[in-house]
Amino acid sequence: MEIKISPSMLASDYANLQTELEKCEKGGADLIHLDVMDGHFVPNISIGAPVIAAMKKVCTVPFDVHLMISDPYSYIDDFVKAGADIISFHIESDSDTDKTIDKILSAGCKAALAVKPATPVEEVYPYLDRLSMVLVMTVEPGFGGQSFMHSTMPKIRQLREKCPDIDIQVDGGINTDTVSVAGEAGANVFVAGSAVFKSEDPAMMIKTLKTNARR
Ligand code: DX5
Ligand code: ZN
Repeated sequence: MEIKISPSMLASDYANLQTELEKCEKGGADLIHLDVMDGHFVPNISIGAPVIAAMKKVCTVPFDVHLMISDPYSYIDDFVKAGADIISFHIESDSDTDKTIDKILSAGCKAALAVKPATPVEEVYPYLDRLSMVLVMTVEPGFGGQSFMHSTMPKIRQLREKCPDIDIQVDGGINTDTVSVAGEAGANVFVAGSAVFKSEDPAMMIKTLKTNARR
C-alpha cells in the first residue's frame, strides 16, 4: 500500500496558514487534513468551509476534510464547493450513512467513514464498496495533542485482513514512534498534527514520519 502523510492543520499557526501549507508541500505531504468541529458532535469548535476555501486557493495538495459534526449530510455541498477532495464523516453522527455517502460521491468527491475508538470496525463493512478510505480514530475525536490509543490496533488489523486494498487512515497521537506501530498493524494513511507543527522543521518531520511508517 502507498504510504500517505496527512498533516492536520488543527495544530498549525492559524495566523499564517499559507506559510504552514507551504511547509507541508515542501515536506512532500500527500494530503492536507482539515478538522471540522461543531461543538456538538465533539466538545470543541474549529474551522468551517470558508476557511478551507481560502486555504484551497494557495495549496495544490489534495484536501482531506474530517467532519466531526452531528449532521454531515446537510453540509456536504459546502465542503465540496470549498475544495474537499475526500470527505470523512463519522458513522456515529446523526446523518443517514447511505444518503451521506451518495451525496459525497454524486458531488464528485471521494468518501470515507470514520469510527471513534469504541465503535466496532464491522460497522463500516456494509459501505466498503463505496468508500475510498476508512478512518480509524486513535484518540477520542475533538482535540489535538492527545496520546495514541494502542487499544485501537486490533481494529486496524481486522480491517486490513478483510480489505487488502483500501486506504486505512489513523488519526490522533501519531508521532515518529506510533506511526510505525499503526503502520505495522496495517494503516497506510497517517494524520499528524502536533508531531508536524510543533516540531522545529515540519517539512523534515513529514519525511521522517513517511520513513518510519514503512518500518
Ligand atoms: C482530533 C483530530 C485530529 C487532530 C490530531 O479530533 O481529528 O486530526 O488534529 O492531532 P494530533 O496529531 O496532535 O493528535
Ligand atoms: Zn482529524
